[in-house]
Amino acid sequence: MSEEIIVLNPATGQEIDRVKKESKADIDKKIEKAHETFKKFKKKNPHDRSALLTEWSKLIGEHKEEIAELITKENGKPLQESRGEVDYARSYVDYYAEEAKRVYGRTIPPHEDDVRMVVTKQPIGVVAAITPWNFPIAMMARKAAPAVAAGCTFLVKPASATPLSAMKFLDLALEAGFDEGVVQYVTASGKDAGEAFTESDKVMKITFTGSTAVGKSLMEGAASTVKNITMELGGHAPLVVHKDADIDMAVEQAIASKFRNSGQTCVCANRFYVHEDIADAFSKKFADASKKLKMGNGLDEDVAIGPMINEDGYDKVMRHINDAEEKGGKILTGGKGSKDEGYFIEPTVITGATDEMVIMNEETFGPVAPIQTFSTLDEAIEKANDTEYGLAAYFFTESYRDGIKLQEGLDFGVLGWNNGKPSAAQIPFGGLKESGMGREGGPEGIEPYLETKITSMRV
Ligand code: SIN
Repeated sequence: MSEEIIVLNPATGQEIDRVKKESKADIDKKIEKAHETFKKFKKKNPHDRSALLTEWSKLIGEHKEEIAELITKENGKPLQESRGEVDYARSYVDYYAEEAKRVYGRTIPPHEDDVRMVVTKQPIGVVAAITPWNFPIAMMARKAAPAVAAGCTFLVKPASATPLSAMKFLDLALEAGFDEGVVQYVTASGKDAGEAFTESDKVMKITFTGSTAVGKSLMEGAASTVKNITMELGGHAPLVVHKDADIDMAVEQAIASKFRNSGQTCVCANRFYVHEDIADAFSKKFADASKKLKMGNGLDEDVAIGPMINEDGYDKVMRHINDAEEKGGKILTGGKGSKDEGYFIEPTVITGATDEMVIMNEETFGPVAPIQTFSTLDEAIEKANDTEYGLAAYFFTESYRDGIKLQEGLDFGVLGWNNGKPSAAQIPFGGLKESGMGREGGPEGIEPYLETKITSMRV
């Protein structure tokens, strides 16, 4: 009997479905198929590839509600957020349907009279992706759409916690008319998929969104065949509120940043630095707004905070809360969790955070906001940068001078100035330092799927 992956609803602990756990041999067959299909697909006219993406987008729109429900059931995020994720995923498909037609080369003025120099771009080949459970379809869309727009064939291993929405999403690509070998999924263990992808000399590119630890091991594996890689890894985002900030706006945007997907995104604000002059006012308003967020099963329309994905996620967040409390943090709201049925943790705001607390040093991936005060902007920038991560950072100030100082001083790839929701298909999303390499989204997001050739011709 073949092994199975059991998919659970994190809001109830109940089984939703089972999918076959594929072996390394199964994955190798799919890589072979992607390799064979690439020989034909790379020659498909970019306008035809664009039309296929447009048809896929249309089908995603038609199945929005069904996919959103699947996301909420297997991931736990509130239905409104799941609908938002379907729109977000679709926006990548739409964006790269256009970019497929804009893969330009160039000519270079030669240094010899009888020479002509031409730069051309071509698809890199078979792309293998590993995608996370926190955005089961959006993180896949921002890899799949530019890959096929460029003319690559695409193989993805969705997270074992959330394969159902990902499978549905890719089935729609086939329904839209992509050949079977152009987009495929494998439902396997991360270890088997990682090994099969990195060891194969037919896979030309690995693209991964997930933890820094797993990213490092994939990078090591990819080194043996010198594969092209894109890595979107962990974050530990600081959120700085300066003394002249519009406090109401900062609270509203900080709520959006902190509690999206119950704090389970790589770009969620993880540590707050608030100027001492406004710290009490900000903390009180932020705690009051956090308290109003209803926690529960994401299928209920008015729920804003769903469960943690699993027991490990729950235990980690509770460890961060308990450690902060033991080290003198004051809980303004929340602080309690329950794993009797599902893995729920109240939206939590902690003041008096210090540098020694685990939560100020590690990614939490949960609905907890620790607040520390600062007196000078230099101090805030230094603390914000004191991490091996460099994905997202947020800052709130009405002053253009201080804003530019923060914008230039913060070592992060995605910055939100008076904005807690910077993500969009048209921006180049990605991190510095151990948060990864490469960018996804925007015109930059198709480049990693293209090879550049220079042809120098004597005429
Ligand atoms: C992530 O959590 O990795 C990405 C979130 C986003 O695209 O905004």
